[in-house]
This record gives sequence, structure tokens and C-alpha cells, in this order.
Amino acid sequence: MSSATQEIKRITTHTLQKMKAAGEKISMLTAYDFSFAKIFDEAGLDVLLVGDSASNVMAGHETTLPITLDQMIYHAQSVVRGAKRSLVVADLPFGAYQSNEEIALSSAIRMMKEAGVHALKLEGGIEICSSVKKIVSAGIPVMGHLGLTPQSIYKFGTYAVRAKEEAEAEKLKSDALALQDAGVFAVVLEKIPAALAKEVSQSLHIPSIGIGAGGDCDGQVLVMHDMLGINNEFNPRFVRKYLNLYDDIKDAAQQYISNIKAKDFPNQHESY
Ligand code: KIV
Repeated sequence: MSSATQEIKRITTHTLQKMKAAGEKISMLTAYDFSFAKIFDEAGLDVLLVGDSASNVMAGHETTLPITLDQMIYHAQSVVRGAKRSLVVADLPFGAYQSNEEIALSSAIRMMKEAGVHALKLEGGIEICSSVKKIVSAGIPVMGHLGLTPQSIYKFGTYAVRAKEEAEAEKLKSDALALQDAGVFAVVLEKIPAALAKEVSQSLHIPSIGIGAGGDCDGQVLVMHDMLGINNEFNPRFVRKYLNLYDDIKDAAQQYISNIKAKDFPNQHESY
């Protein structure tokens, strides 16, 4: 078979389990639209997360709470159209699953049916396990999310590192095991001490994906706007900026403006 006709093999939740077993790190990045999803998919990202961080970086809200299930479905549909190989995981947003298991399942089914994603992510520990079980028993893969869970920001009161104290660290360890028992295929660990993330990762047979949780997680995730430097006002130590697109895009826009004002754009070659 020529390379042009070779079938692209989709990453699945089983691929991620095998990667953990083989000690191969998992790469995950957020995406919210078709164009970036296509670039990230072609770059070889294992997982694209349609994060409810869309509420912040796409819609300009202060928190992830306002984004609706309909809006998440719109973003997820666009990402799915751009991703041929990456596993696409979408967040169920605040309000779409906390009330009870039936509501959680019907939100999960809407996201799967209308967006065509491959898995869902839900925030929380033992308190959401009955909903996780219900969704998993309908055949829908679920990723967990522990540590700093932005949908609970008003409970925490701050975006500081979580689980530094013994009691919260113990709760996080038992939450991780409870989620694994409930059937999640992976768990995001956000903004917790590296030593705790290492201990949790070693205690689980499912992969852990860290963000601000040190280098011993089985994979890493970042918000695309942070790693591309599109967001110039958010500089926590866990973000590595691979580009400085805020300044680059602003420079490009300013050059475009001055070219227009100077009657230099369009030139003869750019006209019909
Ligand atoms: O919504 C999001 O982008 C996330 C990541 C920070 C893990 O949940």
C-alpha cells in the first residue's frame, strides 16, 4: 500500500493503556476549532481535549462555569472534523452532570451523538462515581479530573496548588482509586505536588495526564493558548511557552494596517 493510501490508525483509549504499560508518554493539548485541531492532529498529538477552558480562552469568561453544553458541542463538532488520528475527548461542562446520574447520562449521550467525540471528561472524585458508572455502562469512555478542578473554583476560592496538606492528598488518592474502580480510562491531575502525582500515577493501572503535576505522570496536557503564547496575561510556572503568538499576531496585524494606510496593499500581483 502506498503511503498516500495508507489508512490512518486512530488512537483509542486502549492505545493509551498500552502506552502507559510500555512507559511511552502521552501527549495531549486542548483544541476548540477545526483549523487548530487539523494542525495538532497532523503534528501527532495523541489526544485533543475540547476543554471547557473554551469558556476562558474562546469566550473571554473569567471562569469555566458559564459555558453551556450546546456551546461545548459546537466546539467539539469542529475539532472532530479536524482530527483524523488523535483521540478527541470533550469536557462535560458545569451543570451538565452534577444534578444526578440520569442528567449526566443524557448530557453524555448528546455530546457523543451530536459532536462525535470519542470520550468525555468529568471533574470530581467519589461524588461523581455513580454518574461515571452510568455513563461507562452505556459504552461511553470517561476520563477523570482531580486536583485543581476549575468548575469548583468558587469552593476553592483560588487557583493555587491543591492537595498540599495531608488530608486533601489522602482524599485525592482515594478519589483516584474510586474513579479507576468506576471505570475511567485515564485521569487528569491538575496543579498538585509532583511527589503526590507520582504516587497516584504509580498506584493506578490507568494513565494519569498531568498539568502542573510534575514529570512523573503518564502524559502531559496544556491549554493551547498558553503553550502558543496567545494568552500573554497567564504565566504560571507549569506553562512552557513554545511560541509568543500574542506579539507575533499583533505585529502582523500592525504591519497589515500600515500597508493599507500606505496604499501598499494590495499591489499589482495581488490584484486581478
Ligand atoms: O478545560 C481544560 O482545558 C482542561 C485542562 C486544563 C486539563 O480541563
